[in-house]
Amino acid sequence: MELKLLGEPNPRQREFFLSRARHTAYGGARGGGKSWAMRRKFVLLALNYPGLRLLLLRRTLPELRENHIVPLQRELFGAAKYNSTERVFTFPNGSRLRLGYCDTAQDVYQYQGQEYEVVGLEEATHFTEEQMQFITTCNRTSRRDFTPRMYYTCNPGNVGHAWVKRLFIDREFHSGERPEDYVFIPARIYDNKILLESDPGYLRQLMALPEELRRAHLDGDWDVHSGQYFREFSREKHVVQPFEIPPWQRRFRSMDWGYNDPCCVLWHAVDGEGRVVTYRELYVRQMRADQVAAEVNRLTGNEKIAYTVASPDMWQKRGALLTAGGGFEGETIAELFAHKGLYLTPADNSRVAGWNRVREYLAEAPTEDGGKRPMWQCFSTCTNLIRQLPLLQFDERDREDAADGNDHAPEALRYALMSRPHASREPIVKKQKVYDPLSLPEASGGWLKA
Ligand SMILES: Nc1ncnc2c1ncn2[C@@H]1O[C@H](COP(=O)(O)OP(=O)(O)OP(=O)(O)O)[C@@H](O)[C@H]1O
Ligand SMILES: [Mg+2]
Repeated sequence: MELKLLGEPNPRQREFFLSRARHTAYGGARGGGKSWAMRRKFVLLALNYPGLRLLLLRRTLPELRENHIVPLQRELFGAAKYNSTERVFTFPNGSRLRLGYCDTAQDVYQYQGQEYEVVGLEEATHFTEEQMQFITTCNRTSRRDFTPRMYYTCNPGNVGHAWVKRLFIDREFHSGERPEDYVFIPARIYDNKILLESDPGYLRQLMALPEELRRAHLDGDWDVHSGQYFREFSREKHVVQPFEIPPWQRRFRSMDWGYNDPCCVLWHAVDGEGRVVTYRELYVRQMRADQVAAEVNRLTGNEKIAYTVASPDMWQKRGALLTAGGGFEGETIAELFAHKGLYLTPADNSRVAGWNRVREYLAEAPTEDGGKRPMWQCFSTCTNLIRQLPLLQFDERDREDAADGNDHAPEALRYALMSRPHASREPIVKKQKVYDPLSLPEASGGWLKA
């Protein structure tokens, strides 16, 4: 067997090779040698542990091909057999290295029920937290000589910035997450002497980047969140403690429908100045249309709802599974909701115009009492909306649009605000007539002085 594994690991790569933590992330600046280390680590593990099952994922197939399939085919030629349909390298000792991708939210389900002792997320910040969590469930084994592990490579920015930063940089753990399971190895381009020598222009390119991108890509600074779509969103200004909504305010709902993807329903109220407050959220997954409708009705209680705007694709999608709870096969999902007394209106789905509308509502406008307040706020109980709004990223292909991703709650908000008029930037203060006797014409020389 001949292996073309040339090159010596640099000290950081060596640390990455030696880490046996449950989750090891190697990240920060561009060009430090992260992808090289990931490929090597996977091949070394496959060779060391006969019969090992490894899965190496990248967000999209073209990136996967470029980043790993082509280099691995070159490096493992003669040492492992490659099946291009399954994208699997099989080693003579029975180890199998599968290469996969997770482009759309549904792609993740192709790994459902599978078992891999080792899982790698290449450019982990390109994966949403939900995708990462789902993939983690495939990282398990029944063998005793190996504890399952996940490896991540990452640069700051993108849809997964927040969860990578939380776990590996800020080390803020939720219940069930053990701090000792998470190891972070910082990457710097200066670690990669080979690249610095062979391509000194690359360092110059990184140095010439605009401030924020340079801090992210050259310094590996995780506090810069380049590409964030709604920079104006702030918890301080936009999130409020729940309060009693005056009964006269008009209420409406909006819904981003999903079955495998999450389904998000939001409840909103409009005050006398045209300000919108989102006061309730329902965020569920794999719930049938009739069940969602029942839950929406239950939560709404006897509140009077003027209308409900919903994803236009609900008037096309059909499915036997979704009709299991009533209705006829072939009916649209909107019809299934109607059976439960929940009548929907198709939302305006113009993406760029819709995100602009959200931006207008995030802006502050004068209040009647002379202060300033955003045109949209939400209750602190709408946790998914609060989490997802600041995570929306600019779409790299269309700089005006937000990238598809973990955005079901923001989509529902976009539908809601598109059903409302533009948020006026003019002061909404109504000029009330104040009676001031001294301002009357008579005051200057009329009967008051007499
Ligand atoms: N130890 C090494 N020996 C030989 N070549 C290496 C080594 N480490 C990295 N390289 C080479 O350096 C270049 C950059 O490495 P790599 O692509 O792994 O960096 P990266 O950190 O993944 O970059 P990016 O952030 O852009 O994804 C590649 O050509 C890679 O083959
Ligand atoms: Mg890389």
